Amino acid sequence: MDNRKKLPFNIYLIGFMGCGKSSAASYLNKKYGMPLIEMDETIVEEAGMPISRIFEEQGEAAFRKMETDLLKRMQSVENTVISCGGGVPMREENVRLMKESGKIVLLTASPEVILERVGSSSHRPLLEGRKTVEGIAELMDARRPAYEAAADLTIMTDHKKNKEVCEEILARLEAEM
Ligand code: S3P
Repeated sequence: MDNRKKLPFNIYLIGFMGCGKSSAASYLNKKYGMPLIEMDETIVEEAGMPISRIFEEQGEAAFRKMETDLLKRMQSVENTVISCGGGVPMREENVRLMKESGKIVLLTASPEVILERVGSSSHRPLLEGRKTVEGIAELMDARRPAYEAAADLTIMTDHKKNKEVCEEILARLEAEM
């Protein structure tokens, strides 16, 4: 059976580190044939170094500029699922660029579940020294208003399978079409 989806917009997946953006994007790519852009991976490839080194050597501001530059270059893609780094919706310019070319889907998870998912990761500089429920909850609270203001729809991922999350994304987007 041909499951390919052809949507008249791009899907931007946003949310906190570990909320499942990359897993959902990969599933939508494999199961529904939607082209995929992983923003973090693209930036790492283009910079030729991991995110932690970009932060160390060039600073966070340089990384944020790379994110905005990439969003600008991506404006002509279609029917594409874009997995955004967790900080992307924190810049108004980025939100404007995403809204102009797609639907913004916010994935959420509780700090406890995030900690389980990212506890052993070493490539997220903003989590260094913060790998506790309290540390994650604090950063999440600071980001929540911007995330919620950007989102066209929000999906809680705690205790859901990736497949269920993706089916919910598509069902809710298609219901609005
Ligand atoms: C960041 C999230 C990371 C990555 C970078 C900064 C953030 O992406 O872009 O470490 O500011 O939340 P993921 O959300 O894919 O982990």
